[in-house]
Parts: sequence; structure tokens; C-alpha cells
Amino acid sequence: MDTFEYRNEQLCCEEVALTRIAEEFGTPTYVYSRDALERAYLAYAEALEGRDALVCYAVKANSNIAVLNVLARLGAGFDIVSAGELERVLRAGGDASKVVFSGVGKQPYEIIQALNAGIRCFNIESEAELDRVNDVAASEGKVAAISFRVNPDVDAGTHPYISTGLKDNKFGIDINEAVRIYKRAAEMAHVDIVGMDCHIGSQLTEVAPFLDALDRVLVLVDKLANEGIVIKHLDLGGGLGVCYTDEEPPTPQEYIAAVLEKLGDRELGLIFEPGRSIAANAGVMLTRVEFLKCTDEKNFAIIDGAMNDLIRPALYSAYQEIVPVVLREGGEAKSWDLVGPVCETGDFLGKDRELNLEPGDLLAVCSAGAYGFVMASNYNSRGRPAEVMVDDSQQYLIRKRETLTDLVRGEQLLPKDR
Ligand code: LLP
Repeated sequence: MDTFEYRNEQLCCEEVALTRIAEEFGTPTYVYSRDALERAYLAYAEALEGRDALVCYAVKANSNIAVLNVLARLGAGFDIVSAGELERVLRAGGDASKVVFSGVGKQPYEIIQALNAGIRCFNIESEAELDRVNDVAASEGKVAAISFRVNPDVDAGTHPYISTGLKDNKFGIDINEAVRIYKRAAEMAHVDIVGMDCHIGSQLTEVAPFLDALDRVLVLVDKLANEGIVIKHLDLGGGLGVCYTDEEPPTPQEYIAAVLEKLGDRELGLIFEPGRSIAANAGVMLTRVEFLKCTDEKNFAIIDGAMNDLIRPALYSAYQEIVPVVLREGGEAKSWDLVGPVCETGDFLGKDRELNLEPGDLLAVCSAGAYGFVMASNYNSRGRPAEVMVDDSQQYLIRKRETLTDLVRGEQLLPKDR
């Protein structure tokens, strides 16, 4: 994470010391680097230059409208999975004609909203959903551009909860049923077949599973061509991994080069839906040590950030680096479990971490820009953290910390006694 660097013993994001952000906005707080987001997006866009291609950032990874706006300004498209995400993209100045709509359970009102916004394509995940999109488009007097998400039955070799391209996952249509379903769609009046997509999982650290999936999808593209059904674009989904600790995932350049080589001179438009590889290492979560509690068995550092703020360690046993914001001279490092104030044993952000700690210390949980704030909850009635974006030597609050009033918004007492 070269955007996050120590200068004079202080961890900085671009030109801003993280201590300054903690003083101004409190903790826990998510901090994102505009520069890191831009560079990560441009790595994809530049590798695809000169091709008919679109990089549709997966909004679910980090949906703050300031983040979306930074990417929209660079010309990014967006991969959405709900009307809520569409709303965010539009408010952020995103271009609806560069939006693809994924997800297994699109509601009629969401389909209407997307049709009216003029999105580029619906990524359809089942036959029942095909019928729904066709019916809703008919009732709106529109024709929906569609792609089918094909489940290629390949093992992405990642955590089972984020692996999506196996036969027993809920995602996509069975590749063996695909020709029949495409032919059915071709007969429908209110859908227009434009593409094919697949997304086999997240945090992939090898190119091979992507290429296996691509091989299978290309066989299907050719079969459809024989039936007179022309696929204009291939959407290869997201999934490229990042380095959390010592993983060495391919770079976007390497991944795209491998895809382009396999495609040879085929004239297919390309869409990618990266989320994590754009946002994860563009962010950290700042948290402060409240108390140190040493028992015979363990040393616990009780911090003010918890599983409700960042659930990946608790949910996936995910490892995220945790580093001091100010380097300390003297004292000695010990092994600590970094635990939050939530009443669950699973409430930890890191275990057995060698750190030199004192109460009041600031820590940065690294690689927290993707699937961090977006998965935060109000469990234990804790307000969700603030979000800050750094742009060079300026820091901007892009989401206020939730207040006690925010926590009960929309709730009501019953009107009378029994
Ligand atoms: N496209 C589709 C259809 C997806 O389902 C996903 C992620 C993406 C694109 C973006 O994938 P990425 O490039 O970020 O790997 N919460 C989990 C990750 C869940 C990913 C869900 N789908 C985590 O924290 O690891």
C-alpha cells in the first residue's frame, strides 16, 4: 500500500498524517485515498485501451458516492446489484448507459428503475428472472438489453463463501442449459440479447480459473453463433484478488493480457466488474486502543473498532494487516488479540499480532477500502463509522459518523397501553 506510508514515524495517507484525521473526525474512521482509487481503476482502463471495453466498478465493494464520483469522473461504468446502488451511481454522476445490473433476485420496481434510467444491460441469472424482465419491459413498453450469467462450473480456489462459479452455487444459469435458454430469449419481444457474463468468485490469486471459465464461455459463444444468436460482449465479472498479507495475485495488466491473448482476433466487446482490486488497498480503518487486558492465556487489546464496523475477520476469518499509526521507540512488542467492544467472542479484527502497544494508541487496519464500511451494521446499537477521503494534502469528510438519533430513525413506539 504505497499510498499509505510512514513519514517521520507517522503513517500518512498521501500527504495527510492519519493522526490528524483521527483528531479531526474521531475513531473508528475509514480513510480512502483518491489517488489509490484512481490508479487502481486506470490500471484496468489503460490495459484495455484501444479495445471495445468497459470497466464497470462493482459498487458493492465500496458504494460511498464520493468514491463512485471519483471513478465516474474517469469514465468508469458500474456493476450494480440493487436499485439502491443504481441510485448511488446516478447521484454520483455516473453514466447510466455504462451500468450493468447483476444479482439473482431483481425486483420488478428495480427493473423498472433501471429501464427508465437507460442502463446498458441486465445480467440475468435464471429463467424465471428472464420471464420477469421480459414481462416488466413489456408493461413499460420497452426492450431490455440482456446478458445471461453463465455458471461455468469451475473452482475459483477461494473462500467457499465468496466462490460463485460452481454448479452448487446459486448464481447464474447452468452452462449446459444455456443454449436452450438463449434460444427462448431470442423469441421474446421485450428483451434483446447483447451479451454473456460470468463471475466465478472473489479474491482469486491465479489467472488459471479465469481462463478456464473463459474457455468454457467461448465454446458457448460459438455454439450460439451456430444457432444465429450473436453475442456482442463478454462480461468476465470481477474477482481479481489483492495482497492482504503475502498473496501475489496477478496485476490487472497481467490478467487482461492473458484474457486478450486467449480471445485472439475475436471481435467481442469486453466488460470487467472489478470491486476489491480497485478499492481494497485504497483504504484503511483507523481505530484506537481503549484498554489493554492481559490474562494468563492471552493479551487482549480492546479497541474502539468492532465486528460491526469491519466484519471480514469475523465472517470469513479474513486476515487484514494491523499497523501502528505512530511508530514507538522503546517498549517491546507482544502478541495481542485485537478485540472490539461487541458482546461476541467472534468480535476480533486480528489475532496473535506482534505489536508494541499502549492504551490510546492509534492503529490502522489495512486493505479496508473494499467490503469494509459497506458491510458495517448497527449491531449492539453502535453508530457506523465516519468515512474520509484524502486528496493530496486535503482530507474530506465523505460520510458523517452516525449519531444516536440516526440509530433510532424510523422506529416508533406503540400508541397505547394494552
Ligand atoms: N461482479 C459480481 C457479479 C459479483 O458478485 C462481485 C462480487 C463482483 C463483480 C466484484 O468482485 P470483486 O472484484 O470485488 O472480487 N464480501 C466479500 C466479497 C463478496 C464478493 C461478492 N461479489 C469479502 O469481503 O471478501
